[in-house]
Amino acid sequence: MAYASQSGQAERLALESARALQQASVAVDVQSLEQFDPAQLRQYARALIVASTFGEGEAPDGTRRFARLLQQTAGTPLAGLEVGMLALGDRHYSEFCGFGHALERQLRALGATPLFPLIEVDKHDVQALADWSQALARCSGSAIDAIGVQETAAYADWRLTRRVLLNPGSVGGELYEIALAGPAGAIWEAGAIAEIIACNADGTDAQPVHAPRSYSIASLPSDGELQLLVRQERHAGASNEGRGLASGWLTRFAPLGATIRLRLQANPAFAPALAQVPCIYIGNGSGLAGLRSHLRARQQAGLGRNWLLFGERQQSVDSICGAELEGWLADGHLARLDRVLSRDGADGVQREYVQERLRACSGELRDWLQQGAIVYVCGSLQGMAAGIDAVLQEVLGQAGLDALLAARRYRRDVY
Ligand SMILES: Cc1cc2nc3c(=O)[nH]c(=O)nc-3n(C[C@H](O)[C@H](O)[C@H](O)COP(=O)(O)OP(=O)(O)OC[C@H]3O[C@@H](n4cnc5c(N)ncnc54)[C@H](O)[C@@H]3O)c2cc1C
Ligand SMILES: Cc1cc2nc3c(=O)[nH]c(=O)nc-3n(C[C@H](O)[C@H](O)[C@H](O)COP(=O)(O)O)c2cc1C
Repeated sequence: MAYASQSGQAERLALESARALQQASVAVDVQSLEQFDPAQLRQYARALIVASTFGEGEAPDGTRRFARLLQQTAGTPLAGLEVGMLALGDRHYSEFCGFGHALERQLRALGATPLFPLIEVDKHDVQALADWSQALARCSGSAIDAIGVQETAAYADWRLTRRVLLNPGSVGGELYEIALAGPAGAIWEAGAIAEIIACNADGTDAQPVHAPRSYSIASLPSDGELQLLVRQERHAGASNEGRGLASGWLTRFAPLGATIRLRLQANPAFAPALAQVPCIYIGNGSGLAGLRSHLRARQQAGLGRNWLLFGERQQSVDSICGAELEGWLADGHLARLDRVLSRDGADGVQREYVQERLRACSGELRDWLQQGAIVYVCGSLQGMAAGIDAVLQEVLGQAGLDALLAARRYRRDVY
């Protein structure tokens, strides 16, 4: 039983499936594909794989090395191996279950035979998971308990207490700081995610009711409130007065004092570094949210050696959280701050982006990485995250980038 997981769901399902098989007296070995080589598959008669998809149809970060090694494998070394695949995904992405499908295609090309047709799971699709339980029962010849996603946290009522427009006059979309008061004792780690169930502009339930949107949390429990940085999405259509459902609800339609249905989700792939290691924080736009909670946690723990590279548009209107960041630079909490402005060229059109600044600083980047730095990336998947990835690859080489991922020193919260 192997898994490829970004935020833990595929891992939980694989562990639960292995437990169910073990209870039926089937011998099962559980492996994360993170530390696994395709050649190792040859020691097994059967492989059951639970694979989620990240980015745009891509492998979860920790599994990128495995996916690349698989692509480089030739011939039919896996002839005789039987494979069953459970692919986790979300139909709102264009490449639904893209990585699970790619993995299965490649394993087949290398000679493996499928035990049953690939099973796609759209979020918590109960029927798909029942199909998976049945497939496990068939191939083990034993009765198997129903396998389901264990919800890690429940929704609770939070209260909207404040919203502040951070970038009046910006040529970009309006960006708001949203503050919420929660149930007593609510706790989360830096880097965690808030999942929110939005309402329509008029406060009625949106359909389907359970269509949560994720937001990176920008504060710590010790701040006494949960803070988010939310970009208001605009659409051409007339629905929801042209605003995105959840971002419109949070930034415009929910009245102050309104109840917000919210649950806290841990984000293990974006865990805080509360140890004496340097950290490089890279982001753009609303991505400052996830980085800010980390920087606050590092400050509380008295951990310096932090470098923030942050991309925005124009200094005059987009210097969000300026006082906090400048304060950190002045007191040394930030060893270095690069605010990269994409629209402040002399002619107003010259552009510089964080990935270009990082490339220009590749000497310093190399020094920091040699000192063991952990790299955090939060914000746009398109453009920014791919660009940072390319720079890291240029500086470290493929093997170095693989090693950074394997050491969990490259942590991303990108969307
Ligand atoms: C891990 C993560 C962290 C994020 N952090 C932030 C942040 O800190 N700040 C920020 O501003 N944004 C963040 N986002 C983006 C945010 O979750 C929303 O996508 C964004 O606010 C737009 O949502 P909307 O409801 O306003 O717009 P909508 O137009 O209603 O939806 C936007 C997108 O959501 C998809 N969608 C539509 N219906 C559903 C549904 N039923 N279920 C799931 N998806 C659906 C659509 O494909 C659409 O492209 C994050 C996203 C992720 C995945
Ligand atoms: C940033 C991000 C990108 C994603 N990209 C895709 C995608 O391209 N295709 C897809 O089917 N699902 C995509 N998903 C959905 C996940 O695959 C799905 O939520 C899965 O259950 C996560 O499992 P995990 O917790 O094991 O990583 C994405 C989710 C996130 C947060």
